Amino acid sequence: MAHQQDGLFPQSLLKAFSVLIFIILSKDVCNGQPQLIGPSQALVARAGDDVILPCHLEPAYDVSIKTLEWTRSSLDPRFVYVSRASQEIEKLKNPSFKGRTSLFVDELKYGNISLKISKVKFDDTGTYKCYIPEMEKEAFVELVVGK
Ligand SMILES: *[C@@H]1O[C@H](CO)[C@@H](O)[C@H](O)[C@H]1NC(C)=O
Repeated sequence: MAHQQDGLFPQSLLKAFSVLIFIILSKDVCNGQPQLIGPSQALVARAGDDVILPCHLEPAYDVSIKTLEWTRSSLDPRFVYVSRASQEIEKLKNPSFKGRTSLFVDELKYGNISLKISKVKFDDTGTYKCYIPEMEKEAFVELVVGK
């Protein structure tokens, strides 16, 4: 009896552990959900330039009806661009980006949610996040604006 229990306990623990690992892995890898991809390097721009912060889903996936967010955590409010079903929700946007940010609406059906920022300023330097709340997907883009 005693030796049986010795053997059973670690085995059931092991089983529980492998089930947990499986759940963690399958959440990210096995469900085939697209991943958000940002650039691998910082973008460098000069003040006054128009820049595109790249961000897209791989494999392509239509996000035109989804809520999409571009934010920068060092801003308050942090929203640089928010859209729902391809319509911008302007009232959420940080005033310093008023009239300066846009998405490429025709690209949304290919999962491309790259953001255009017009006439960048030195103060636009920072780390931007593109985020799809419903899919819990995010990617980061670092922008450096020289003077
Ligand atoms: C996303 O759209 C932008 C603007 O048209 C383009 O520059 C970029 O190459 C596109 N990205 C992908 C992955 O197609």
